[in-house]
Order: sequence, then C-alpha cells, then structure tokens
Amino acid sequence: MAQRTTINPVLPQIKPAMLRTFHARLTTWYQAHGRHSLPWRITADPYAIWISEVMLQQTQVATVLARFYHPFLETFPTIEALAAARQESVLKAWEGLGYYTRARNLHKAAQQLVAMAARVRHNRATLPNTVESLLALPGIGRNTAHAILAFGHHQPVAILEANVKRIIARIFALEKPTDAALWEGAETLLNQAAAFDYNQAMMDLGATLCTPRAPQCGQCPARGICQGKAAPESYPTPKLKKTVPTRHVTLSVLIDHRGRLHLTNRGERLLGGLWGFPQTAQETATSQSMQKGATHLGTVTHTYSHFKLVGQVELVPVKNTAKAKRCFTREEIAALPLSTLDHKVLALVEKHHRAKNHRTKM
Ligand code: ADE
Repeated sequence: MAQRTTINPVLPQIKPAMLRTFHARLTTWYQAHGRHSLPWRITADPYAIWISEVMLQQTQVATVLARFYHPFLETFPTIEALAAARQESVLKAWEGLGYYTRARNLHKAAQQLVAMAARVRHNRATLPNTVESLLALPGIGRNTAHAILAFGHHQPVAILEANVKRIIARIFALEKPTDAALWEGAETLLNQAAAFDYNQAMMDLGATLCTPRAPQCGQCPARGICQGKAAPESYPTPKLKKTVPTRHVTLSVLIDHRGRLHLTNRGERLLGGLWGFPQTAQETATSQSMQKGATHLGTVTHTYSHFKLVGQVELVPVKNTAKAKRCFTREEIAALPLSTLDHKVLALVEKHHRAKNHRTKM
C-alpha cells in the first residue's frame, strides 16, 4: 500500500454522498451538544475573535473563559486601545496565562494594524480578511489566520487546532500525519456552505466525543466515514511522554531597609518584559550555597513546556540597593507583570513576614 504521509499526500477519497451525511449529522450533533454560548462564538468583532484564538492557542477553554478573555477586552476594547498601551500593561493583562510571546506579538500586531490604517487614511484599524495579510502579522500562523477568517469574516476555510488534528488523523487512519496531510484532510472534510458552525462543531467534537482516550465512536457524527474507528487510539500514534529536564536555581529576594524588594526586568525570550527576582543557576540540586546573612524561605517549583524549575528562595537583607538595584514597595509590585513562578516566591516572602509578625506580637 502506498505511504499516505508523503510530501504530496493523497488521502483516501470520501464519496460526496457520505460527506453530505457527515455534514448533516455534525450539524444535528452541534445543535444539540455544541458550546454555543462561548463568548467568542457570539461576537461579530474580528478583533475579539483574534484575541480569543491567540489565548486558546496554548490554554484551555475553561481558563481563558474564567480569567482572561473578558478582562483583557475590557482593558483593551479595540485594536487602537491595544496599540496605544504600554507593553507592561499588556503583559499585566496576560499575567498567569503563560507563553508571554503571544502577548508581545498581539501588541506589535495591533501597532502594525494602526500604522497600516493611518497610511491609507482610515479612521479605524481593522483585521485583514486575507490569509496572506494575516500571516504577515506577528503571532498569526495558518490556523489562527483561518480561524479569524472563518469566525470573524465568515469565509469558507478550514481550521486545524489540536482537537481537529486528532479527528482528522482518525477519520483518515493516519498514524504519523504530516501537517500537509492534516491540512489536506481538513480541506477535504470542510463544509464550505457552513464553515463557521462546521469548524466550531469540529472543535467541540474533539473536546467531548473524539477524545484522546476512550472516544465515543458509537455516537460520533463521523462514524460513517471514519476509517480509524476500529482502533481510534492508534491514530495518531500516541506520543511517548517526554521527560523534561529539571533546572535548579537560587532565587534571591533582596530586601532593603524600608522593606522594599528588588526586581529585575527579565530579558529571556519566554518571559521578556516581565519583572522577577534574580535567578542564579545551581550546578546540582545539593550545591545550594546561601549568601551570607541570608534566610532560606523555602522551595518553589514550576513546570514550563521544556523544563521543570526548582528554586531555592533566599531572603537577603541589603543596605544600599537604591542606586544599583531597583526596589519596589508591595503596592508597586502589585501593578507590575510577574510570572507565576515569581508570584510563588512573593507568597513565600509574605508567609515569612506573617510568621515573623506573629512571633514578635507574642
Ligand atoms: N480553540 C481554539 N479556537 C476555539 C474556539 N473557537 N472554540 C473553542 N475552542 C477553541
């Protein structure tokens, strides 16, 4: 049998009548079981749809819904408002969502859109309505571009996020599909006459029925065309769990005579623009070397996509930091964007101070 996942993939054909049955069943299923009230499904504003799609690139629906989507749009209701904001404010609105490059790219893209509108003397910046011009913006890949076109501009294009990739791998029984094969599958299956609902329905199908483990094939609207339903968990081939390395660091909390804490502005790719406590690498887990006069406050851990970080937190009283190092009061810190790890450090500092105050009161 020919390899399916070659550079020029040729997927098994699906008869038009069977495709029509699939579309009809998917529509009925979506009407009964779809997540119709998700706020980015009931807005007509392509800007809001763009924000939701970027948030959803690497974050679960429940998290985006509970804590990020509405507050972000309240703070930055338009492309202009986002473009005019300071990067620090944008990062503050993204605080806790992770993958902060997304926020920096949104900000840059908004500024580009405002500049483009000014060049053609438009009063308002708008999101482009072609794949090419969307792809030219920072942070927008093919899937996000198609989502903006399908959901914001009602164009007949297919989307391909993680859930949809799994459905397509199963329908076409692809063990190790390339992106090209998945895109071909996505375009073959698309219901061009109803792309908005079709795409939303596919995501819901992947999130609820065509799940990674124990999919419910008997109730699936794709049961008539799915070539993987005899062994759905084999498509795609399950990935071996990666073991991520652990990095050991010391996190130093320098505290001045007024109780203010020193923070640096991070420069790393991932956390660029956020503020945090200075980190120094430890060679081994046991080579923890404390600075003179420092108090060990505890251990913090955080799992990033490519490594796990274990940090020993030390509190270091310092006399004259004001000149060389920037120190901040708690109120000032509350207004700055900090990563989740740095919030964990801050919580240890507060716990230490509460315990100390309690002891001195007794
Ligand atoms: N993930 C990406 N886009 C989504 C959407 N529109 N609805 C639900 N989950 C999504």
